[in-house]
Amino acid sequence: MNERHLYPNPVSVNEAVEHLHNGDVVGMPTETVYGLAGLASNDDAVLKIFQTKGRPRFNPLIVHCADMTMAREIAEFDPLALKVANAFWPGPLTLVLPKKANARISDLVTAGLDTVAIRLPKHPMARRLLSTLGQPVAAPSANPSGKLSPTKAQHVIDAFGGAVPVLDGGACEAGVESTILAIENNRIILLRPGNVTAEMVESEIGIKVNLPDSGKIVAPGMLKSHYAPNAKVRLNAISPNSGEAFLGFGSAAFDGPNCRNLSPKADLAEAAKNLFQYLRELDAMGVASIAVAPIPIEGIGIAINDRLARAAADRTT
Ligand code: TXA
Ligand code: MG
Repeated sequence: MNERHLYPNPVSVNEAVEHLHNGDVVGMPTETVYGLAGLASNDDAVLKIFQTKGRPRFNPLIVHCADMTMAREIAEFDPLALKVANAFWPGPLTLVLPKKANARISDLVTAGLDTVAIRLPKHPMARRLLSTLGQPVAAPSANPSGKLSPTKAQHVIDAFGGAVPVLDGGACEAGVESTILAIENNRIILLRPGNVTAEMVESEIGIKVNLPDSGKIVAPGMLKSHYAPNAKVRLNAISPNSGEAFLGFGSAAFDGPNCRNLSPKADLAEAAKNLFQYLRELDAMGVASIAVAPIPIEGIGIAINDRLARAAADRTT
């Protein structure tokens, strides 16, 4: 084990910038979930991200930029990509685009692919960090690999034992990771559902959003069992079994200390915002299983169901 530095957390934007310039990793708020950021151009910093998370190195990272000028130094934007970027950036959307040959990005970030995942976050603190830094950061979600994504600064501080400096930007607004779209040959392909839904893209851009050829929504490197609490997760539950915690939605809810309701008014955006926090709270009660009410598979509910399916997936493989 390397020597551990304990930081008086949270840190300021200027302190975070200094840590990043030194090649260190920093916990960064975004409007989706907290990211574990490091200089995208610096091999050692990117390596530190993978090591801190315990993330397999074949799984590429998202590059976060302050503005379009920064983004266009890294990726090729064809007219369709520009149209999508103009419509949804800054915001909870990641675009997978051809990487520019001269992009100043560590090859570790893209895991050797000739495409790069890019996003312009909307969170004001992330934007301040990126514009002060003046260069892009690579940042996966700031959780140990395979665990629930963090939606509060304290989750990041707790996860890495205070060994990582963290900016506190409050609770994340969206609560689930960004939508990922690949744009190639004038087609848009949904790799991961999120707050920017396929319907929103179709109505704004006027062309169909496709699923990958296998018909499954999955970004390369995305493991089936993911976003896992310690407890088992049982989906589409009508009521809790004895000893089970219950995660409700709308009127499908129960009262009691082991129960939470993602959104009493059955609002999917509110449910997405609460999802990881409530799974954490129920998991912290030490129950063996968490039963989850049915969540409508529409709009942002598609992303919620995607994350729940991964949380419930068989972990023996
Ligand atoms: O909301 C988010 O996207 C958060 C915040 C911190 O920005 N980040 C995040 O990163 O969720 P991460 O590493 O947990 O998920 C990134 C996903 C992975 O499934 C990865 O395989 C995929 O993006 N990805 C990255 N580069 C890719 C590429 N070139 N082609 C296809 N998928 C890619
Ligand atoms: Mg993640």
